Amino acid sequence: MTAQNTPVTPAASASDAPHAESASVIIFGASGDLTARKLLPALFDLWSDGYLADNAPIIGVARREKSDESFRAEMYEAINGHVRAGAVSHEHWSQFASRLFYRQLDIASGDGYPDFKKQVEAIEDQQGVSHRRVVYMATSPDLFLPAIEHLGLCGMIPGRDSSHQLRVVFEKPFGRDLTSAQELSGNLRRLLREEQIYRIDHYLGKETVQNILLFRFGNSIFEPLLNRNQVDHVQITVSESQGLERGRGGYYDNSGAMRDVLQNHVLQLLCLIAMEPPALFNARDLHDEKLKVLKALAPGNKGDVSKWVIPGQYSAGVVDGQAAVSYLSEERIPADSRTETFVAMKVLVDNWRWAGVPFYLRTGKRLPSRVSEIAIQFKQPPLNLFSTVECEGDMCALVGARPNKLVFRIQPSESIKLSFSTKRPGMQYQIHPVTMDFNYKETFTQALPEAYERLLLDVLRGDSTLFMRSDELEAAWHFVTPILDYWDQNKTIPEPYRSGSWGPRAADDLLLNDDRSWRSPTV
Ligand code: BG6
Repeated sequence: MTAQNTPVTPAASASDAPHAESASVIIFGASGDLTARKLLPALFDLWSDGYLADNAPIIGVARREKSDESFRAEMYEAINGHVRAGAVSHEHWSQFASRLFYRQLDIASGDGYPDFKKQVEAIEDQQGVSHRRVVYMATSPDLFLPAIEHLGLCGMIPGRDSSHQLRVVFEKPFGRDLTSAQELSGNLRRLLREEQIYRIDHYLGKETVQNILLFRFGNSIFEPLLNRNQVDHVQITVSESQGLERGRGGYYDNSGAMRDVLQNHVLQLLCLIAMEPPALFNARDLHDEKLKVLKALAPGNKGDVSKWVIPGQYSAGVVDGQAAVSYLSEERIPADSRTETFVAMKVLVDNWRWAGVPFYLRTGKRLPSRVSEIAIQFKQPPLNLFSTVECEGDMCALVGARPNKLVFRIQPSESIKLSFSTKRPGMQYQIHPVTMDFNYKETFTQALPEAYERLLLDVLRGDSTLFMRSDELEAAWHFVTPILDYWDQNKTIPEPYRSGSWGPRAADDLLLNDDRSWRSPTV
């Protein structure tokens, strides 16, 4: 069963009309992968759609020596294939590239900053943009604080009363536990105001993630059902089939699945599906409601961490038909690494709405497919009035109604599906499960914007709704840090799982012990 969806093209309403934002965008860490694969393509697409002012310069900053020309040539190679149109014509590129600059700077040392400031001002004068800047920290996190301190010392951080504007975006990881996150926030706060700080979680920029709030609070029929009286349990999956991307071994082995994905992306999804409606749809009220969810998080089972959190590490196997090596054989991974590449956990959101409803969370690398979804399973009807005999070969079983499910597919095949039981046509009352679904591809003709596009535009507009406030981030660390400490203190060795499987057996047992099982999301 499919909802009746007539393909829709973007509305030409005033609020949708491009509004060109004029500010310099200065990217620290411009020789990294993020700049080439995400930031530059996003800026290019924003510019193509008329969201960036024609004169606004984009200035790449890194330690290596490079001319503007060579930076432009490098970026041209890099963004091809990553922008919405796929390939970029030379003509289109040269219009865009004329605003692209590169300045060499040793970000860690203060020496070059006074000169750097002059160079930036010269570019801004030439382009006719002044006093509005976005600095994007796409560097390793140990450079966040030194860079901000040096920017402050050379006078590039405007004072509170100044009419000049500076916003700074910080990539994750923002800290590696509660103490380091608090320390970093505290140190940055000496130099920047909270409203100047944009802590990015790119999941919040995904179109389908934003739609969770609209679906919940822009309709009246589903919201009354999302609570402990109707919902049996919730499963949140962020799975990836890829292992470690080239060059990421050093970072990943120091982070693991908990810090890399669960602490941020998965907990943010949980917040959006569990939070109360905000009084107003603005940044403060949304952050306040998400914070309440994070504060209400509690272990899903009694006993120590091992009773409700399962770490795993991939061994060799086959993924997407290709042989995959074990995590321990990946580049730059120590042979005795105890880093988890998978984590599953059972948590409760201990508040009035959700008390007693388990939320099962899992994320991992080298799983069978790349899928992110939230599945809400409702309770069975109180009486099982109908059943059907279903046979597979010689084996027949009496099956009853299946529980209703509401599934938000974040990616790929972006959709929202509601499953329910119907009567199979015939002379008896026999049950047949069906699905009502809304599928982005069938309904909308335009491609979904990339997360970074939306987030960069929001920074330029000064809208922090889709970013993480410091107390939110700290609440997430507050929940996760004792788990990391427990693993550390007990030298926990993650349970191996075969690449291409859905994780370690203990993760299955976590649900089997509750008479439940994980969904096998099909792509
Ligand atoms: C990043 C993690 O934040 O998210 C990566 O560092 C992970 O390890 C990625 O692969 C997943 O994001 P997406 O958008 O591909 O689901």
